[in-house]
Amino acid sequence: MGGPELAPHTARRSERPGTPGALRASVARVSTLTAQPPILRTEGLTVRFGGLAALSNVSLGVPAGEIRAIIGPNGAGKSTFFNCLTGVLRPTSGRIVFNGEDIAGLPSHTISRKAIARSYQITNILPGATVLENVRIASQSRRHNWSMLRHHRAYTDVIASARTALADVGLAGKEDELAANLSHGEQRNLEIGIALATVPKLLCLDEPTAGMSVAETHATVELVRRIARNLTILIVEHDMEVVMGLAHTITVLNYGEVLAEGRPAEIQANPRVQEVYLKT
Ligand SMILES: Nc1ncnc2c1ncn2[C@@H]1O[C@H](COP(=O)(O)OP(=O)(O)O)[C@@H](O)[C@H]1O
Ligand SMILES: [Mg+2]
Repeated sequence: MGGPELAPHTARRSERPGTPGALRASVARVSTLTAQPPILRTEGLTVRFGGLAALSNVSLGVPAGEIRAIIGPNGAGKSTFFNCLTGVLRPTSGRIVFNGEDIAGLPSHTISRKAIARSYQITNILPGATVLENVRIASQSRRHNWSMLRHHRAYTDVIASARTALADVGLAGKEDELAANLSHGEQRNLEIGIALATVPKLLCLDEPTAGMSVAETHATVELVRRIARNLTILIVEHDMEVVMGLAHTITVLNYGEVLAEGRPAEIQANPRVQEVYLKT
């Protein structure tokens, strides 16, 4: 059901646009990722705010292990899409199939336990707690009850996975610093560490390089690439250099609809995309 309803995408000259197999075939040639079944699929995802369709019939599939960028001008529906995936918003209609299960409309704490995490600006950080505490709390939150506190081994597991998450985001050695004392870039990466501590299978990154210096941006690109070896990543990002360098596949949203989907080079060359987005 998902395939033929994918929105218009760049097709090669030899392939007729809109042919259900066209996108699948073109992606399969360039990536072994598509050998994986999609870990995430949306079908006809629609969100209406009164008369406005923030998302309109969005159908897409993301293979496990992929880094998928979601781009589009302001107001295109990117945040709304993330809000639906993470249970912040209940879609008006449509399905969100994650790991074979429809999760549309489930509350965010339930979705979090199904291993979808989101890193969103630096709002999840407790500035007065240490770096390690920040990640430990997130790691603990994913264990379903507090009985584990009685078990020393479970507690040391939590600390160990918190330290691993910190090492993954380049904050090893900063465990005992107050989060408030980290640089802006380090705080953004701590935010990713907090998300990783919940051991997600799908990680949604909302503008991870916003407000970062050039050096911090490069480091974060490397960070995302590194952590992507073990999970699937959706990334909303305005920095086109970051997007083009990082994404396996790009989905372009415009006015709540999928305008195009394809490899970075295809998206860059797509006249419709250039018109609405890249030129600006
Ligand atoms: N809670 C809301 N109530 C009403 N309109 C909203 C709400 N959230 C988003 N919108 C509208 O939905 C559209 C998509 O917004 P959003 O998903 O934030 O876009 P993006 O993240 O791509 O900039 C915009 O027109 C925005 O004004
Ligand atoms: Mg947004």
